[in-house]
Amino acid sequence: MMLPWNRKKTHFPLIAILSLVFIVFTILYNERSIRQIQENPDHVHHHQEAPVTFVKANRINPAQEVLDRFSKCNSTRDYSGRKIAWVDRNDGQRRRVASERCDVASGKWVFDNTSYPLYKESECPYMSDQLACHRHGRPDLGYQYWRWQPHGCNLKRWNVIEMWEKLRGKRLMFVGDSLNRGQWISMVCLLQSVIPANKRSMSPNAPLTIFRSEEYNATVEFLWAPLLVESNSDDPVNHRLDERIIHPDSVLKHASKWEHADILVFNTYLWWRQGPVKLLWSAGKNGICEELDGLGAMELAMGAWADWVASKVDPLKKQVFFVTMSPTHLWNREWKHRSEGNCYDEKTPVDFEGYWGSGSDLPTMRMVEKVLSRLGSKVSVLNITQLSEYRKDGHPSIYRKFWETLKPEQLSNPPSYSDCIHWCLPGVPDVWNELLFHSL
Ligand SMILES: *[C@@H]1O[C@H](CO)[C@@H](O)[C@H](O)[C@H]1NC(C)=O
Ligand SMILES: *[C@@H]1O[C@H](CO)[C@@H](O)[C@H](O)[C@H]1NC(C)=O
Ligand SMILES: *[C@@H]1O[C@H](CO)[C@@H](O)[C@H](O)[C@H]1NC(C)=O
Ligand SMILES: *[C@@H]1O[C@H](CO)[C@@H](O)[C@H](O)[C@H]1NC(C)=O
Repeated sequence: MMLPWNRKKTHFPLIAILSLVFIVFTILYNERSIRQIQENPDHVHHHQEAPVTFVKANRINPAQEVLDRFSKCNSTRDYSGRKIAWVDRNDGQRRRVASERCDVASGKWVFDNTSYPLYKESECPYMSDQLACHRHGRPDLGYQYWRWQPHGCNLKRWNVIEMWEKLRGKRLMFVGDSLNRGQWISMVCLLQSVIPANKRSMSPNAPLTIFRSEEYNATVEFLWAPLLVESNSDDPVNHRLDERIIHPDSVLKHASKWEHADILVFNTYLWWRQGPVKLLWSAGKNGICEELDGLGAMELAMGAWADWVASKVDPLKKQVFFVTMSPTHLWNREWKHRSEGNCYDEKTPVDFEGYWGSGSDLPTMRMVEKVLSRLGSKVSVLNITQLSEYRKDGHPSIYRKFWETLKPEQLSNPPSYSDCIHWCLPGVPDVWNELLFHSL
């Protein structure tokens, strides 16, 4: 009976000694390399990553030039490693964990042609030509008839009067890119039918576009800010540019428009997926840009945005939502073996639970999750990614207005010009708004 104990006893010091040797070695090794770096600065330059420095976000710099679509970089360098410093000032309330309540983002699509669609395409005067698929010739209308059914509970039933009551005397603002604009149009279409034509209005298209209801003294607005921070793509119409230039450390220009809204719904994603981004720091020298990959640049922009949320949002007075990435369906081999098309001619949702396409970048999702969790109860997530992943049938494909004239070789090959990014209305974004209604 003594033997095992003895054996343990003799083994223990051996392990301890080995660990100690290992720890000492590690410390020494690190110290030596630190000393080497100090003695030989060139070593740092060539073999180390650029040193990380932190800059404060959203500081007013009157000398900073305004970015527009004519802005150019005078020269471009590698990214210096600068990051955004922001304090979470967390109120102690971590974001609600999904398991506490029902996770409405986990579920399945159920064919339901009695309660859907929630409005008719032809009855919404604010419908966009990019999203009106039926009007642009889509023959199958199945995409309008799907209800989202969460696994553990039911979504609150859409009720237009109840929604207006929630909005009474308030400003609801969507801020982001064309996907978010689609969600805004969906919301306007969902809401407008009960307001007499002479008691509602829509402002002309501008960076900030406003739908107003007199009766409810409420507005539903859209602010074009595809990268959240100020950029050379902030013109709502002319923003097709070869290079993307941003002020990575400031949302002030856009925030001056969104700061008085009562309910804010943000998104940003696809614009960061188009190659490297040029950074023009507020404190930088004139016209000298740094270049960084899209994910890195998006993280900086999210930092500047999070700094604004952390310092300006009182969750008792303002509700802030962040919509996760909207999936694309550009390669049908991802759901159909050995196929070479895209979303064109897809008529039904994917029925494989957990389907996830390559367009929804997981590192981006992790980064967004990290930022949002640091913001605690100041922001709620509208996690639309998984449920929209299933909806390969929900995109306009060829049934929308295209701005360029299509060439004969395109017309003879429909997938070549199909839009598999945006969503037909009525359709998937209506369900995103039902999630919003459910969370308000
Ligand atoms: C709903 O769908 C079913 C099955 O496809 C069909 O028989 C029925 O006519 C449809 N009802 C309406 C109102 O479209
Ligand atoms: C309408 O709503 C705004 C806030 O959006 C508020 O300042 C104003 O007092 C309201 N007007 C009326 C008549 O209730
Ligand atoms: C580029 O340099 C010129 C002259 O040095 C300067 O006037 C201009 O403002 C710079 N461009 C930018 C975008 O800062
Ligand atoms: C959204 O849901 C997916 C699973 O469907 C999950 O992996 C992801 O972490 C969620 N994102 C956020 C920001 O909560």
